[in-house]
Amino acid sequence: MTAKTYCLLSKKGGVGKTTFALNCAHALAFSGFRTLLVDLDAQSNLTKHLLTKSLGEDFRKTELPDIAKILLRRREAADSILESGYPGLQLLAGSPELDDLPLLDQRLTREPTRLQSILAPLLPEYDYILVDCAPALNWLTRMALMATSEVIIPTQPEAYALQGLEDLVPWLDRMTATAQLFRVVINMYRGNTQLHKMLAERIEATYPGRVAKQKVRLTIDFAEAARSGLSVFEHAPASSAALDMYSLCFELFGMSAETIHEKIRERTAV
Ligand SMILES: Nc1ncnc2c1ncn2[C@@H]1O[C@H](COP(=O)(O)OP(=O)(O)OP(=O)(O)O)[C@@H](O)[C@H]1O
Ligand SMILES: [Mg+2]
Repeated sequence: MTAKTYCLLSKKGGVGKTTFALNCAHALAFSGFRTLLVDLDAQSNLTKHLLTKSLGEDFRKTELPDIAKILLRRREAADSILESGYPGLQLLAGSPELDDLPLLDQRLTREPTRLQSILAPLLPEYDYILVDCAPALNWLTRMALMATSEVIIPTQPEAYALQGLEDLVPWLDRMTATAQLFRVVINMYRGNTQLHKMLAERIEATYPGRVAKQKVRLTIDFAEAARSGLSVFEHAPASSAALDMYSLCFELFGMSAETIHEKIRERTAV
């Protein structure tokens, strides 16, 4: 067994990368899959969310291992994995230091496979590895692309979304040979507006077969769940947020009733 690897990517900020990484990882872990989140964003929102819950508000005051230290070869990945407090869900933490890496180690920017070699020994340990990226197409995002085999691109249905994708897709093409493995997910969707319907259709027509069927509707539940330090499944289990997210996971990660049963059997057999 080897983990399936995904990165969450977009050029634009605030489109739902971290929300998807976090909630998809919960859905996977709750379904019995061993899941690792890698926070490759200097903002470290994912890390703050998970560690504030498990370690408390002051977690930054303790010297924690993080992905920046691993990339700088100051720490080993296997010894740096943090528990989220949820069974089967673990984290390689982000750090503000990610922004300083090119100054701290100038070779790093010329070695785009370093993250790939860091994650390689961890692949047999997990079913899924999800890498959350910063809203930028830079050397760090490129490293995430080299280390993962599929790309999830959350997009808002807005006038500039197509333009953003038109920039991103050729960049993906240039960066990797696996650029065909990208999936666009329409987020913050309001199906009761003609504008959103029209824009979603336009995105689907431009990237046929590449846009997830399951759209994620606009709802305050995501922000409220994040504020409470919870996934939407815990905060609002019967909400459209929980429903859309779980259904999206089935589509994106090839989840099925059989794979879930198999995992649960494996775990209860130990
Ligand atoms: N479907 C949705 N409906 C309403 N709010 C949403 C939805 N998805 C995400 N949000 C909210 O939008 C905000 C931005 O989301 P998020 O932090 O996941 O974006 P991001 O792409 O990771 O941002 P950045 O590029 O800065 O890392 C958050 O407050 C989140 O709760
Ligand atoms: Mg983010």
